[in-house]
Amino acid sequence: MTRPARAQIHLARLRHNLVRVKEAAPRSRVMAVVKANAYGHGLVPVAQALEQADAFAVAGLEEAITLREAGCDHRIVLLEGLFDAGDATLAAAYRLDVVVHAAHQLPMLERVPAGRRLDCWLKVDTGMHRLGFPPGDVPAVARRLSTVAGVGTIRYLTHFARADEPDQRATADQLACFDALPRDSATECSLANSAAILAWPATHADWVRPGIMLYGSSPFAGRSAAELGLQPAMTLRSELIAVHARRRGDPVGYGGDWVCERDTHIGVVALGYGDGYPRHARSGTPVRVGGRRVVLSGRVSMDMLCVDLGSGTEARPGDEVILWGDGLPVDEVARSSATIAYELLCGVNRRVSYECR
Ligand SMILES: Cc1ncc(COP(=O)(O)O)c(C=O)c1O
Repeated sequence: MTRPARAQIHLARLRHNLVRVKEAAPRSRVMAVVKANAYGHGLVPVAQALEQADAFAVAGLEEAITLREAGCDHRIVLLEGLFDAGDATLAAAYRLDVVVHAAHQLPMLERVPAGRRLDCWLKVDTGMHRLGFPPGDVPAVARRLSTVAGVGTIRYLTHFARADEPDQRATADQLACFDALPRDSATECSLANSAAILAWPATHADWVRPGIMLYGSSPFAGRSAAELGLQPAMTLRSELIAVHARRRGDPVGYGGDWVCERDTHIGVVALGYGDGYPRHARSGTPVRVGGRRVVLSGRVSMDMLCVDLGSGTEARPGDEVILWGDGLPVDEVARSSATIAYELLCGVNRRVSYECR
């Protein structure tokens, strides 16, 4: 038998979450963000499940080429654009759109082979201060882009830093900055990530760019995915491989810093940080064993973690364990590990076997 660590990808739930995006932003087209191996869910199966999206966004050429070679015919947008001049030829060959976020990328576009055109998304820094041109530079950059033979349609794009904080005015300020850009009313625009799709309808514009909500996690610290009508697209599962009776005072795991507070049974789960489970998950992090919530006990090891099953347990080696997904939101595990669901989902690695259903 193979090691039981596996990630189940629920394709129908991905489709359900896409419907939630469309309900929230009914007048916008949807650019599904599938970078980082579709947030750890598997790039190609996710894109196939989300064929009702209007476009896909990825971080780099490799991901875009993987999609094209798997038969994806959707618009594909490179969110970081071209990294060097050689990328222009490949982007043209694979019919990709590129984000243009900085001046050094402009000469690269001159290398688009004659007769080809790349559609460009001019990225505006409206206040996140990560990528993008300052708003004051945008008219000149747009003019320059429009003179490059290899550039097709020019669209505008920005990204929000704090859309997940509906009480803060940062998003309204970024929107006002974007709205003040001189532009022709026919220029298509894209602003909204998941949090903005759900909390800032004024930002929806022509294209929305959902990522995390497609995968069934909440973009907001204070609202659960279930409350938002989202369904978890990944269930990370494994099994108990040992169950041992331990005495009050027995230390468990590396460092021995977690100690049984009473006589109990400790279950050993075949999954650890070498599979992508967070090593910093605190003792007390919820884990489901055989449909019952128990807690992580002691430090997470590379291949294993331990759970406190209690004294009267009937749990046995071979019992199913859910680390997150069905009945255990990844957001809860993230909170207990001082991180965000994005990091946990992206971190699941190739040692875990994937099954789509
Ligand atoms: C430019 C851009 N747009 C959209 C997204 C999707 O964001 P979210 O997953 O929060 O919906 C991301 C994700 O990081 C991004 O970098």
